[in-house]
Amino acid sequence: RKRVGVLISGRGSNMVSIAEAARAPDYPAEIALVISNIPDVAGLDRARGFGIATATVDHRPFGKDREAFERAVDELLRVNQIDLVVLAGFMRILTPWFVKRWEGRLINIHPSLLPLFKGTHTHRQALEAGVSEHGCSVHFVVPELDAGPVILQAKVPILPGDDEETLSKRVLVEEHKLYPAALAEVASGRASLTGDAVSRT
Ligand code: GAR
Repeated sequence: RKRVGVLISGRGSNMVSIAEAARAPDYPAEIALVISNIPDVAGLDRARGFGIATATVDHRPFGKDREAFERAVDELLRVNQIDLVVLAGFMRILTPWFVKRWEGRLINIHPSLLPLFKGTHTHRQALEAGVSEHGCSVHFVVPELDAGPVILQAKVPILPGDDEETLSKRVLVEEHKLYPAALAEVASGRASLTGDAVSRT
């Protein structure tokens, strides 16, 4: 099984969905470490509840030196012999240095149908755009924000009367199915990054 390091910044519900999927003996990955850049978030407690090792690398003492923060994260990932890095509600933009170091072994979930609605407040963006469907994407991370090739997507309808809360909940249900499925594709080698595209076998 591939050893996965999950980076979080908050509640960690996507991390939990992967931890639950990894209970199946034939799942091709296991979470070996969860790292948060914010101390004391709920996701760290939830990880410990699964018996998963946790660490906090607070980004604030590093100030503007993003790479120094990332070197600390990278060191922890290497010491723990991590094969794949999974961003799950990790709200820091990574430098090209880190992205290159983990190229093809670094994936993210984003709550929109990429390439639509990059960045933050994606549900608000979708509602304001007046589109009829929305969803979530798991993609390989490339240096440009939310621009990496998509591994899997899931769609939900936008319904009359939706607000950010109802829509984000509907998307989150899909995220919790999509992320374990996409990680399984990558961990098993069925999906890989070749150049700037996903190749599938
Ligand atoms: C999820 O909706 C995830 O897609 C989103 O943050 C939430 C984290 O929830 N990620 C981003 O917006 C990344 N830019 P979780 O901590 O419960 O998994």
